[in-house]
Amino acid sequence: MAISDFDLVLFGGSGDLAMRKLIPAMYARDVCRDLPESARIICVGRAAISQEEFLRIVETTAKPNVKETPNEKNWARFLERIVYVSVNATDVNTYGPLVDALRPDESITRVYYLATPPSLFAQICDNLKATGLATANSRVVLEKPLGRDLESAKQINAEVGKVFCESQIYRIDHYLGKETVQNLLALRFGNVLFEPLWRREWISDVQITIAEKIGVGNRLGYYDTSGALRDMLQNHLLQLLCIVAMEPPATIAPDAVRDAKLQVLRSLKRFTPTTLAQNIVRGQYRAGYVDGKQVPGYREEPEAPKYSKTETFVALKAEIDTWRWAGVPFYLRTGKRMSDRLAEIVVRFKPIPHSIFNQSTSSFQPNSLVIRLQPNEGLSLNLMAKTPGEGMRLKQAELELDFREQFKAPRMEAYERLLLDVLRGQLTLFMRGDELEAAWEWVEPILNHWEQDDSSPLPYASGTWGPAASSALIGRDGLQWREEALPED
Ligand code: BG6
Repeated sequence: MAISDFDLVLFGGSGDLAMRKLIPAMYARDVCRDLPESARIICVGRAAISQEEFLRIVETTAKPNVKETPNEKNWARFLERIVYVSVNATDVNTYGPLVDALRPDESITRVYYLATPPSLFAQICDNLKATGLATANSRVVLEKPLGRDLESAKQINAEVGKVFCESQIYRIDHYLGKETVQNLLALRFGNVLFEPLWRREWISDVQITIAEKIGVGNRLGYYDTSGALRDMLQNHLLQLLCIVAMEPPATIAPDAVRDAKLQVLRSLKRFTPTTLAQNIVRGQYRAGYVDGKQVPGYREEPEAPKYSKTETFVALKAEIDTWRWAGVPFYLRTGKRMSDRLAEIVVRFKPIPHSIFNQSTSSFQPNSLVIRLQPNEGLSLNLMAKTPGEGMRLKQAELELDFREQFKAPRMEAYERLLLDVLRGQLTLFMRGDELEAAWEWVEPILNHWEQDDSSPLPYASGTWGPAASSALIGRDGLQWREEALPED
């Protein structure tokens, strides 16, 4: 489906996200000829700088983030799309240059991308309304963090909802733009093989891990008031859990998928103060070695509060109270400064009920399906197979599907895919307001508990898989995290 002409307005247009992800993503789509000839990108910033000065910033800050070194002709053509306007997003009296920059033609789609702190969302929407810019052909994209608790998320929904209707609102979770996440939908609902087994009778447990090697970097100001639970778990991990656990939607239409995800969020077993203490581990990285390089601890990062209690790691055991999933533990885990960078979902099946071989059932590794989001997108299905030669010895073997090898087609980064979806008006991969609130509602007791709790997150050395309590959490159920269960090389 071709994209019709648009004006894409980036609030926070000179900020980190615009330079690191959004402008490079738009360039990548431009090179692939996805953007209409006259489409424009209007970058809104507070700085009173000229168009030429802004383009110089784009040249030095955004261009290095383009995934393939740009061809100069393409890059020059792309720059012609960019317009810089100096506007104070919170002051309606400064919106004149933006009003002048937008084309009044109603057939041109307008997208307002709010890559700003969420505290500005309501004010920007009000200002768009007051200046007559919130037209029927407009869409608004909200970048995370979408609130910091249930109350603030409700407030964002209510304030933005006064100006835009739900079908105009695109709440971004960039994990939903990752190829493998969509491939998970293909795997579950494009094959008959898995659906009959995709339930408590056959699945013993599910692990979802997003591990990062990086530390907090230069985002301490934001991160120290957020932490891993708000930054990663409330959104990315819960969205992955929803896609794994949801009932088959009737179609891929936005509300069919979002209803199914909402159902999962609403069925998550609520934590009580007792279950909370038993089922959640929070950690904070200390100094250590990542890839052989010495790195400082979280509290030694520049500007970090000396006694910060912000968690950089969280692991928890969730349960979904439905017929399909009752009793199946979903272990979720995320952390910074971990041993490896990976994002994966591991679905482990039940053990065989009886061995006909001269091998005890305990020597049979249960089947498992590993869905890898990064670094190498793909799937592996672990099966038991006979080892060659005489006798009958069974050993674990792996069926491997590497998406890059299999499909040679060029890949799209998550932001490329999601920006194209916004421009095409496709909402399936964006969160609905009630979904966002349901996710906050579930994490709220954890936030409250930690706020009242005097204890600090457990320390873990950088370059490890988190505090030992994380292994103990899953070990209590007689299980191990996948990397712990891998055979030694
Ligand atoms: C962002 C978080 O949403 O996701 C970051 O704010 C995190 O803290 C990032 O580093 C991870 O995304 P990805 O795509 O690199 O796994």
